[in-house]
Amino acid sequence: MTISSQLFSAPPDIAAKIATRKPIYMGYPMEYANVGAGKDRHIDTCLTRMVESETTNGFEHFELIGDLPNFNYAEIDLSTTFLGHRLELPIMISSLTGGGKKSERINRNLAEAAQHIGLAMTVGSQQIMLEYPETRPSFEVRRWAPDILLLADLGLVHLNCGLTVQKCRDAVEAIGADGLVLYLNPMHEVVQRNGILDFTGLLGKLETLCADFPYPIMIKEVGYGFSDVALQRIRTCPIAALDVAGMGGTCWSRIEAESGRMRLSPVLELGVKTAETLEAALRILPRKIEVLASGGIRTGADMAKSLAMGATATGMGLPFLRWSFDSAHRVVAEVERLTEELRLCLWYTGSRTLSELKHKVKNTCAQRI
Ligand SMILES: Cc1cc2nc3c(=O)[nH]c(=O)nc-3n(C[C@H](O)[C@H](O)[C@H](O)COP(=O)(O)O)c2cc1C
Repeated sequence: MTISSQLFSAPPDIAAKIATRKPIYMGYPMEYANVGAGKDRHIDTCLTRMVESETTNGFEHFELIGDLPNFNYAEIDLSTTFLGHRLELPIMISSLTGGGKKSERINRNLAEAAQHIGLAMTVGSQQIMLEYPETRPSFEVRRWAPDILLLADLGLVHLNCGLTVQKCRDAVEAIGADGLVLYLNPMHEVVQRNGILDFTGLLGKLETLCADFPYPIMIKEVGYGFSDVALQRIRTCPIAALDVAGMGGTCWSRIEAESGRMRLSPVLELGVKTAETLEAALRILPRKIEVLASGGIRTGADMAKSLAMGATATGMGLPFLRWSFDSAHRVVAEVERLTEELRLCLWYTGSRTLSELKHKVKNTCAQRI
């Protein structure tokens, strides 16, 4: 026995406790610190680095069709109904965060703004909450947004590694959500270190989940969009909605590369541009599946074109992250700026409501071979 171990050896019962105690980091178990730190690293990267695709979102190939307004500008109504809930504005805060040290303030600012101006909101992936219940407060945004359409968020691929119907229910009910978003992100999983790569049989499992699930389910990508072929496979799933989350905005290959968590060398150009995946989703999916447009939506014109094409609402991720890091006031001010642009587009097309805006858009590349 060495001198130091003689001097510091603890009584056997305390030594046993020390041996089994989980290492602690800033009040959290060490593993949580690592997972939460990953979330914070993503946030830092998104706030400080160029993480958007070099590719456009594709809406430059679409033009709004002008008409004469036959109403007063003040009568323009931007409300819509999504998943059975009335939204004052056709905007959803896409899934962003929860579980990291910085998440609670960001989610609070987002939720307060959403409540104030009538946006819908999805929280970030709750996988961390299912594993580490102590992270739950950062997802509990109902206290700041009692009336909004709020959606829970989990990864579809987790159905292949322990996620059950009951856990999906727990994720929704723990935060008082109205429905569940399941992200379907094969490209994101493959580019990141420690991504989950077994996607076997997921659509079959999704069908079984939908059959038993008491809340509406929306499937979403995370920035690569869905191809025609993928949409053909999804079209028979009994989902309530699909968020295309196409290419042209946040690019996960860039985020993982900039965060030092890249597993494969960057494949930045793979994906379907938002306008193209949106057009395909509206063409291929049955009418009863509502379609949300997201992925690089950055202007009122992008929103107007999406809504004119047939999307029920639009979503944004990265801009909301950046604004909410500042304050809830900033979120409200930026959304007001965007909705003024959207109002201008309705005025230009002679549309008083979003239903009147439908179809007032043309694809200027429709003659493509
Ligand atoms: C920092 C950050 C974290 C994200 N976390 C999630 C997540 O937990 N779950 C999810 O479904 N999507 C997540 N996303 C993807 C967004 O919801 C969205 O689909 C994507 O960013 C594309 O939209 P954008 O171009 O407007 O950012 C995240 C995006 C960012 C920027």
